[in-house]
Amino acid sequence: MEREQWSSTLGFILASIGSAVGIGNIWRFPYIVGENGGGAFLIPYLIAVLFFGLPLMVLELAIGRSTGTSVISAFRSIRQRFAAAGLVIVAVVSLILGYYIVITGWVLAYALFFALGQPIEFDAFIGSYLPLAFFLLSGLAVYVTVRSGVREGIERLSRYLIPVLFVLLLLLVVIALTEPGAAEGIGFYLSPDFSRLTDPGVWIAAFGQAFFSLSVGMGILLTFGSYLGKEGLFRNAAIVAVADVLVAVLAGLVVFPLVFTAGLDPAAGVNLAFITLPAAFTEIQYGMVLGALFFLMLFAAALTSAVSMLEVPTAALMDSYGYPRKRATLLVFAAAMLLGLPSALSYTALNLEVLGTPFLDLADYAFGTIGLIVAGLLVSVVGGWFMSRSRICKEIGGCGWQQTVYMALIRYGVPAVLLITLVGSFFRGSG
Ligand code: PFF
Repeated sequence: MEREQWSSTLGFILASIGSAVGIGNIWRFPYIVGENGGGAFLIPYLIAVLFFGLPLMVLELAIGRSTGTSVISAFRSIRQRFAAAGLVIVAVVSLILGYYIVITGWVLAYALFFALGQPIEFDAFIGSYLPLAFFLLSGLAVYVTVRSGVREGIERLSRYLIPVLFVLLLLLVVIALTEPGAAEGIGFYLSPDFSRLTDPGVWIAAFGQAFFSLSVGMGILLTFGSYLGKEGLFRNAAIVAVADVLVAVLAGLVVFPLVFTAGLDPAAGVNLAFITLPAAFTEIQYGMVLGALFFLMLFAAALTSAVSMLEVPTAALMDSYGYPRKRATLLVFAAAMLLGLPSALSYTALNLEVLGTPFLDLADYAFGTIGLIVAGLLVSVVGGWFMSRSRICKEIGGCGWQQTVYMALIRYGVPAVLLITLVGSFFRGSG
């Protein structure tokens, strides 16, 4: 059967933005900025995106388009034994997906609670079995989309949801900026503390956040690249990266003005999205409507990211084992739900934890932090060192000095910062 292709460059860009823009932009980015030097954090963050994230995005797209297949078979075609590295990436992305769907379910529940005007306290919510139902619902939405194919499913979903997301975000920014706490909130969010830039931990946080947010190093863009025609890779990857940074920065302009308007603690870390912000919505005028819109936007972001993750194992099964799409999707969906189940149960009465850490937190650390970096390393080493230079050049528009600089970044720069981020994340996690 002929390989599916995106219906247009715009469709591909929207699907890639859908993958990149997720919970990481709207929930994670604002609190990480708050914790790591405010406006000054943007310096390491932009360096990470521009010089390391973006080149890796382009490499993934180049591998995908050049080999015309998904991650396991693409790696196998570079060297037989690299199929195992492809398998590791597929495993990591499936494991991330498991707990990502759990959080997507929380978001969906919150959107619904606010729409009904009845927000629930977070601890009571995740302590109940209600999140299981939303986990299943969100999982089904992801499944149905991927089952429908590249054009009819993934691309179409992003065509609808990404414009909705941007409109909601802009609307919320305008409203948040007119709230009484806006100036104070923005002061907290963006006033730079440059002294923090000497702290290596800030740089590690910036790199970790950039790779997570861009969805890079997970074989997603590689798989998406295998459905590409003749588009210019740099330009399109740059559009996706800019959109990703923009959504993250704008999300902070919604979150902090609202938190300050409600007089709440802005340094709530991971609690920001599900405890502080909902509390803020109950304090401010039209809070229920705004809360519903905020969580609806977050749900759109999360759903399109989860869909892109499920496509990786699905395409791998199709390409490596010849499964038809429908059967492949069903199998990987079932696997991802099973892998996510311990995370979904981790805060319930069953209290699933390992050495005192809830399973979901552990999954985020082991797969979403460490696993993600290891996968990025595999992509950069296999692609940068073992795919021939001329083959990469062919994908990125010739072999001039720009490409020489690019290859140096891919071969040395990207693996080096990924290694440093890996070591740093180990110490941060265990320390
Ligand atoms: N980029 C997505 C976000 O920012 O929420 C999350 C993500 C998707 C991470 C895919 C990793 C991944 F492989």
